Amino acid sequence: MSSSLHLIFSVFLIFVVATISPIFATDHIVGANKGWNPGINYTLWANNQTFYVGDLISFRYQKNQYNVFEVNQTGYDNCTTEGALGNWSNGKDFVPLNKAKRYYFICGNGQCFNGMKVSVLVHPLPPPPTSPSSRELSSNHSSAAVVPRLGFRALVVSFALTWFGSACF
Ligand SMILES: *[C@@H]1O[C@H](CO)[C@@H](O)[C@H](O)[C@H]1NC(C)=O
Ligand SMILES: *[C@@H]1O[C@H](CO)[C@@H](O)[C@H](O)[C@H]1NC(C)=O
Ligand SMILES: *[C@@H]1O[C@H](CO)[C@@H](O)[C@H](O)[C@H]1NC(C)=O
Ligand SMILES: *[C@@H]1O[C@H](CO)[C@@H](O)[C@H](O)[C@H]1NC(C)=O
Ligand SMILES: *[C@@H]1O[C@H](CO)[C@@H](O)[C@H](O)[C@H]1NC(C)=O
Ligand SMILES: *[C@@H]1O[C@H](CO)[C@@H](O)[C@H](O)[C@H]1NC(C)=O
Repeated sequence: MSSSLHLIFSVFLIFVVATISPIFATDHIVGANKGWNPGINYTLWANNQTFYVGDLISFRYQKNQYNVFEVNQTGYDNCTTEGALGNWSNGKDFVPLNKAKRYYFICGNGQCFNGMKVSVLVHPLPPPPTSPSSRELSSNHSSAAVVPRLGFRALVVSFALTWFGSACF
């Protein structure tokens, strides 16, 4: 179809991805429905998730009973909070994972020794999707193959591709 339609679509796609992406950041709830409690192996939980820059990790627990400290590897290994990078105690704490690095969180009241420690590796986001050329889009949908790896952007992109596909053909 007309190339102006393609141009408009490309601009629209960039705008939508740039605008909406933060809304689709994943909130990783530590321990899922078990929350932040003693006696849970959070390594197993963390191994089952993929963390990207801009995601959140959130801790749900009985306020006043437990808490959360962000520590370095020494603190994680030894269950110590000296030099902690941050602490939270509201019982429903959302921590933004803004850097591509390994984060370490422990409970600061001794329950770290009962397993209340979690370490997560945060991956950089793939480079923002550049405006895909209309030729690639219409001749081959191979770009869809990489969509699942893009996390929340995949929602927007796959939706847009679907929309575009039906508008085009
Ligand atoms: C948690 O599970 C991991 C992976 O199976 C294992 O390596 C680790 O020893 C476990 N940790 C505890 C405290 O059981
Ligand atoms: C891993 O995640 C899947 C899907 O979210 C879930 O069904 C499964 O129970 C999880 N496994 C563990 C060990 O948490
Ligand atoms: C943990 O503490 C012990 C001493 O209590 C120390 O020898 C060890 O180096 C510490 N672990 C780390 C990773 O620093
Ligand atoms: C962690 O922080 C403590 C206290 O600030 C410091 O002594 C230690 O060397 C740090 N460990 C690492 C691995 O950075
Ligand atoms: C918790 O964090 C606040 C700043 O957010 C800091 O003032 C306080 O000293 C920290 N508490 C501990 C025990 O590290
Ligand atoms: C279309 O994508 C498939 C993989 O999904 C690839 O094998 C094939 O070479 C591509 N064709 C063209 C014309 O790019």
